[in-house]
Amino acid sequence: MTELLPGTEGYGATADALARHYESVAFAEVHREVLPLLPTAPGRALDIGAGTGRDAAALAALGHRVVAVEPTPELRAHGRRLHGTAAIDWIDDGLPRLDKVHALGRRFDLVLLTGVWMHLDAAERAQAMPRVAALLAPGALLTVQLRHGPVPAGRRMFDVSAAETRALAADFGLATLHDSERPALLGGSAVWWSVLAFRAA
Ligand SMILES: C[S@@+](CC[C@H](N)C(=O)[O-])C[C@H]1O[C@@H](n2cnc3c(N)ncnc32)[C@H](O)[C@@H]1O
Repeated sequence: MTELLPGTEGYGATADALARHYESVAFAEVHREVLPLLPTAPGRALDIGAGTGRDAAALAALGHRVVAVEPTPELRAHGRRLHGTAAIDWIDDGLPRLDKVHALGRRFDLVLLTGVWMHLDAAERAQAMPRVAALLAPGALLTVQLRHGPVPAGRRMFDVSAAETRALAADFGLATLHDSERPALLGGSAVWWSVLAFRAA
């Protein structure tokens, strides 16, 4: 049996329900706080832990060329089925190393980490941040959303603070542009989210 990438535990078995769940909200709602910071000119975007591709599809519709990284095969399959556009390249890869994305030899104007970073433990986060930072073009935007609250059954998740994430990002030259909290759009009332945005030097 193939070993699961750390963080993906629990996603494959519930992928059908998750696909309906993730697609029930709009990109503009999920990223409301950081919309004014997004690049306005079409460029290259990278969605890491893209799920079923809701955000990748929205970015493609805005004219961006998108790489959607999703290590859970069942979610990737939903993504291809729901959002099978030529403007999205789906890749089976993941944090902390992102080897296949690095092998593309590209830098990106926008990178999304939506509901993904808190799946990594502290050592993985320390390994992943420079790997993510190295994929950012000069002046690029990185957005990070961190889920807080009870961990769903079967998932591997850590309580990762916005403050720790800002400090780690700063170590790799990323300046904080936005830091706020909000209640969950999806999930129970005990869940809340940190919304962060960073600019590469
Ligand atoms: C909460 S879902 C969010 C999906 C999507 N970004 C969204 O907002 O709808 C978290 C996603 O991260 C993926 N994931 C888990 N561990 C990962 C890792 N180590 N590297 C990249 N993605 C990972 C899961 O497979 C899942 O698709």
